[in-house]
Amino acid sequence: MKTIIIIPTFNEGKNIPFLIHSLQEQFIGMEHEMHILVVDDNSPDGTAEEVKKLQSRFKNIHLLMGQKAGLGVAYTRGMAYAMENLNADVVFEMDADFSHKPQDVPRLMAEIDKGADFVIGSRYVSGGSIPKEWGFRRRMNSKFGNIVARYLAGIYHVKDCTAGFRAIHTSVLKNIDFSELGVKGYAFQVALLHQALQLKAKIVEIPVDFIDRTAGESKLGIKDIIEFILNAWWIRFNSLKTFLKFAVVGASGVVVNLGFFTLFLMAGLNKYLASPLAIEISIVSNFLLNNFWTFRFRKTKDRVRIRGLKFNAVSFLALGVSYGTFVALSIFFPDVQPQLHQLVGIVPATLLNYFLNSYWTFKQVDED
Ligand code: GDD
Ligand code: MN
Repeated sequence: MKTIIIIPTFNEGKNIPFLIHSLQEQFIGMEHEMHILVVDDNSPDGTAEEVKKLQSRFKNIHLLMGQKAGLGVAYTRGMAYAMENLNADVVFEMDADFSHKPQDVPRLMAEIDKGADFVIGSRYVSGGSIPKEWGFRRRMNSKFGNIVARYLAGIYHVKDCTAGFRAIHTSVLKNIDFSELGVKGYAFQVALLHQALQLKAKIVEIPVDFIDRTAGESKLGIKDIIEFILNAWWIRFNSLKTFLKFAVVGASGVVVNLGFFTLFLMAGLNKYLASPLAIEISIVSNFLLNNFWTFRFRKTKDRVRIRGLKFNAVSFLALGVSYGTFVALSIFFPDVQPQLHQLVGIVPATLLNYFLNSYWTFKQVDED
């Protein structure tokens, strides 16, 4: 497999020649075709010149130059180049400052060989570690970043979401629209991981020791931290979006229901007939809106007629739950206004309605 180790650099002139040498030593024992791609953002310290010197000695070193626009932008450029120009099967993410040990490269690669799509060199699984010399603040920053990613963005299963040491199969990357990630800095790590999870990539974490850099300095700035938190909120909001649309449709159903009910009464229809008719019309309008708006991207296995019937069945069940709640509350709290009982009943009914429709009526069929 053709494998490209992508190393973004900004002012890493003191590190990059040593790292390249060290990686070359590792490559000797590996059975894959190993390359290095340095993505340098016109570092004023002459990082690129160091790389160019080595390019005349080694054939497997590539250099991509550009304007400094953040870690994520550098990786986006590097990954596109690795896939389009270098025909990569696998790409690595790796820091230039020896925080990631070159000796760990074969270990990450071995997991790809065993069938993983996305291997993370993880500091937070058992056996992994962060530098002992890190003070309270650095520890907290790193822990906090992972807590935000795990619990705000919802990536619960991964222990080290912000790790910058990864091996990724390009079959996953080819299905990601990088222009839609919408991040420029360090938030890229979480945004990319989230996309891989969405694509159901096989993610594996293996323990690594993260070593503190001895030369040069970290480039992580306040802009990166702000973007990081906004990105986590954005991911959370997007996963809520479907539910919000469903709720909007439900609210529109109330208007349709009452509107038709009034119309029927004005037309002289008996109210005991007008009521179920209006209810059914609102169920159908809710179904159509959910079908053509809320869940329009879902590929479902049923025909639209079957989906409509399922939706109807769920609506009746929700009606039962809503009514059951109303009756129960009326018995236990007889002094409270009945409007309140009716209102509370809407909550479990809406949740049930959403989950059954999302996971049954409009269930996405896996495409493979
Ligand atoms: N081309 C380019 N452009 N490279 C950059 C930029 C940029 O804007 N910003 C950082 N880099 C390079 C650095 O030169 C280094 O090789 C690598 O990216 C990591 O940058 P550091 O500045 O050393 O990052 P860190 O040590 O603070 O952060 C590490 O931990 C983070 C959180 O755990 C990295 O591993 C991150 O990837 C990781 O998210
Ligand atoms: Mn670093």
